[in-house]
Amino acid sequence: MRKQIAAANWKMNLTLQQAEALMDELNATPHRLSENQEAVFGVPFPYLINIKNKLAGKKNVFVAAQNCYSKKSGAYTGEVSAEMLQSIGTDYVILGHSERREYFNESHAMLAEKINICFEYGLKPIFCCGEPLDIRETGKENGYVETQLKECLFHLSAAQLTGFVIAYEPIWAIGTGKTASSEQAQQMHAHIRAVMAKKYGAEVAGSISILYGGSVKAGNAKEIFGQADVDGGLVGGASLVAAEFAAIINSLK
Ligand code: 13P
Repeated sequence: MRKQIAAANWKMNLTLQQAEALMDELNATPHRLSENQEAVFGVPFPYLINIKNKLAGKKNVFVAAQNCYSKKSGAYTGEVSAEMLQSIGTDYVILGHSERREYFNESHAMLAEKINICFEYGLKPIFCCGEPLDIRETGKENGYVETQLKECLFHLSAAQLTGFVIAYEPIWAIGTGKTASSEQAQQMHAHIRAVMAKKYGAEVAGSISILYGGSVKAGNAKEIFGQADVDGGLVGGASLVAAEFAAIINSLK
């Protein structure tokens, strides 16, 4: 059975004090995770160790970095390597977020390299894909997302993609309050699974957790997560509010 995941992406928000207070509040807010469910916290680099420590002893709860560099080590001032992340106990790395693609010019080729280096150091990528508004409005979203998958993932082996995590985040739904309808989400998630199945077979595709991201809130999570091919969410704004994120965790299938 593939994993159902509620992943928080705090983006560039919160001081350390605010982040710790948020985790304390969340820990005090009733939420549960069953055997095949996970909660993942995508926190800023400087707090990874602190938040990891706050979560010590908790089952099925993990931390994610929001990026890493594609090279092993060396003269890359300001960058953070996969090995560094591994050395502090990071579990996941969010890669290919549309904000990174847009503001930091991350290309398909660079993302493919970043995914490779994560595998090399035992970090689990959460690979983001999703189309901008003009592509959706011209009905080209399926082809657009298919290209992202092919260019960034198709060099990987079936073993590497077994249990892999993909997040579908339509750019027009990120931070806009405009959520994709549950039908739109299901349709794209089924397409993503079909693309992966065509290349790797139904078993591998069926093991991939496909998360939806884009204005997920406590109020809409249950309906979106209830779709057959939606295996949880990657949550921005609502993950900064303990009661919201606890309710989102409780909405997992
Ligand atoms: P919002 O939930 O704020 O729309 O952000 C989604 C997102 O980008 C998560 O990675």
